[in-house]
Amino acid sequence: MSKILISARSLRKSYGKRNSKFEALRGVTLNIHEGESVAIIGKSGSGKSTLMHLLALLDKPTRGEITLNGHPTAKLRARKLNTIRNKKFGFVFQSFFMNPNDTVLNNVILPLKIAGVGYRERHRRAVSALKTVDLDDKRNNKASDLSGGQKQRVCIARAIVNGPKVIFADEPTGNLDSATGDKIINLLFKLNREKGITLIIVTHDQDLANKCQRQINIKDGRIVSDSSADVEQDDDGDEEIREIVAESEDDDDEDATPDKFEGDNNIDGMLDQKHPVHHINIEEDEEDL
Ligand SMILES: Nc1ncnc2c1ncn2[C@@H]1O[C@H](COP(=O)(O)OP(=O)(O)OP(=O)(O)O)[C@@H](O)[C@H]1O
Ligand SMILES: [Mg+2]
Repeated sequence: MSKILISARSLRKSYGKRNSKFEALRGVTLNIHEGESVAIIGKSGSGKSTLMHLLALLDKPTRGEITLNGHPTAKLRARKLNTIRNKKFGFVFQSFFMNPNDTVLNNVILPLKIAGVGYRERHRRAVSALKTVDLDDKRNNKASDLSGGQKQRVCIARAIVNGPKVIFADEPTGNLDSATGDKIINLLFKLNREKGITLIIVTHDQDLANKCQRQINIKDGRIVSDSSADVEQDDDGDEEIREIVAESEDDDDEDATPDKFEGDNNIDGMLDQKHPVHHINIEEDEEDL
C-alpha cells in the first residue's frame, strides 16, 4: 500500500455553544494514502462535508489531530495552510464556486496567479487544463454564462491547474444529468489513474461510491464502516509539503492561529460564492513559495 498522505486521529467537531451545541463529528480516525480514491458516504447531516473540510485543512477540529505527511497541522499559520491548499489540494465544491463575472480562463488562472506563476506559463497551463475538461472553446465566456455541468468542469480545471496531490470533491455530480455527471466522474478517475491524484469524494451516489477503491460510511459523526484495511504510518511523503510544514515549524514570530479560522469556526464565509477562491490568499511578499 502507498504512503500515508493525510492522517486523522480522533477528530471531533462541535458547532455552536451550550444549548445549541451540536457535535457533527464524534471521534473519526482514518488514514488517506497517496493515490487512493475514497468515497465518503452517509445520510444528509451525518458529517461528511464537515469531515472533508477538516481533511482539506479548510477548518479546524474541536479536538483531535490531522497530520500531513506525518506532520501535525494544528499549529500551522494561515499563510502555510494557504500555500498547502493552493499548491497541493484541488477543490470541486458546488458552493466553492468561481467569480461569475470573470472569464472562464481567468477563473482557472487564479490559483496560478496566487501561486506566483508567471503570465505566459499560467496562461499556457490554464488553457491546457481547459482542454482537459473540453472547454477550451469557452475560455473567453463569462463564467456565469455556462451551464451547470460546464461550471463543474471549470471547477475541475481550476482544481487541477496547479497539479495537486489531492482533489476534494463534495457532491461533484449533484444537480447534473447523468450523462454530464458521468463525464465529470470519468474525468476525475482519469486524473486518479493517470496522474496519481488522490481523490476524496463526498457523495450520495452509490454508483459513484462503488467506482472508488474505498468507501467510508459516516453515521451521526462516526465512521460505521470503512472498506479499507489500514497500514502502518510511514514518514516518507511529498517533499514539498514536508518543506512547507517544516519551514513553519521554525517560525515562531507569528500567531499560530490561522486568521481564516478565528471566531466561530464557521467556514461558510470561505465557501460562499460571494467570497470565491480569492480567500485562498497567499501574500504577495511570500518568498518561500
Ligand atoms: N456551521 C455550522 N453550524 C452549525 N451546525 C453545522 C454547521 N455546519 C454543519 N452543521 C451541522 O453538522 C451536521 C453535519 O453537517 P455536514 O454538512 O457535515 O453534513 P453532510 O453529511 O455533509 O450532509 P449533506 O449530505 O446534507 O450535505 C449537520 O447536522 C449540520 O446541521
Ligand atoms: Mg454535505
